[in-house]
Amino acid sequence: MIMRLIHINEVIPGIKVAKPIYDSKLSLLVQKDTALSSHLIEKLKQIDIRHVYVEDDISKGIILEPMISDTLKLQAITMMKMIYELYDQGQGEKSKQVREEHIRSLRGIIDDIISEIYSQYDKKYYSTELMGAEMYHYDHAVEVMILSVLIGKKMGIDRERLLKLGMGAILSDIGKSKVPDHILNKKGKLDPAEFDQMKKHVEYGYDMVKELVELSPLSRQIILLHHEKLDGSGYPNGFVADQIPLLVRIVTICDIFSAIVSDRTYNNRISADVAVEILRSAAPAKLDSDIINYMMQIVDIYPPGTLVELSTGAYGIVINNNLSAPTRPVLRILTGEQYEEVDMMKDLTIFIKKVVSRLPKS
Ligand SMILES: [Fe+2]
Repeated sequence: MIMRLIHINEVIPGIKVAKPIYDSKLSLLVQKDTALSSHLIEKLKQIDIRHVYVEDDISKGIILEPMISDTLKLQAITMMKMIYELYDQGQGEKSKQVREEHIRSLRGIIDDIISEIYSQYDKKYYSTELMGAEMYHYDHAVEVMILSVLIGKKMGIDRERLLKLGMGAILSDIGKSKVPDHILNKKGKLDPAEFDQMKKHVEYGYDMVKELVELSPLSRQIILLHHEKLDGSGYPNGFVADQIPLLVRIVTICDIFSAIVSDRTYNNRISADVAVEILRSAAPAKLDSDIINYMMQIVDIYPPGTLVELSTGAYGIVINNNLSAPTRPVLRILTGEQYEEVDMMKDLTIFIKKVVSRLPKS
């Protein structure tokens, strides 16, 4: 697949979509290879799709191969949506049985995702955008699960525990289904009373799953403790350091990371390199530095197709990564109509200044 990810405001009519786009009901909205009309671009903006994968001149030859197939990710997102909706309904005995079945199905999907992860060698992860902001909560849950499992695997955690880690991670915010929508979807900062309500999602979540035999105690513990911080400043218990199990700490970091890089938290997406720096600034006081180092090893901070501004003032597009040096990829430097390929491992005088969303108008 030849493509790059661009902001919806950069999309010009006629550009070809390199990946399908789905609406909030998970039905296909735009087929791959469709040339976008101005009408369609407007429609995407209306449903809050902020980025699309396109195929254009400067993305020629750039190959993006996601680590986890879109089909499996969509399955996980769909199942999460069903579970959220189920919890919105009654708590009767029949519903408990359905919940157990849903949890079992979810575990099957996560097991398949773990199998895909095991079948990859030396590949790094970057999140793929499939749908608009309305699906944020489910999409975020799936991202946190994938990142947590990848870090857990890198740390040498066995497969059985990875599955429990993945289940706890994906369900960590399930209690948010009981937090009022106006708080949950508020743009901007929550006031102290709203924040207190939001904090309750960890206990709500724990209560919601505690009777489920399909969910392990480890997964439940993740749901309850994923907002604890090493210095005791977290919630609900204000636990410190050793009171917070390793697998919980992994989910905490992945949750923060995924929220930072998503479109949802800030209007302009924050790039993965900056997100890692933000995490680092909270370590070692609040977050586990070791886990952040593992995060660096599993996440592709400059996925192919990323536009960057260089220390020389020039702009480039990432073509390929150097696995041993994540901050020094192979670039295509764009000068006027000319493209020049530069391997940053061979030219050590150049540095990436920052990720940019568009090229300056020439
Ligand atoms: Fe949470």
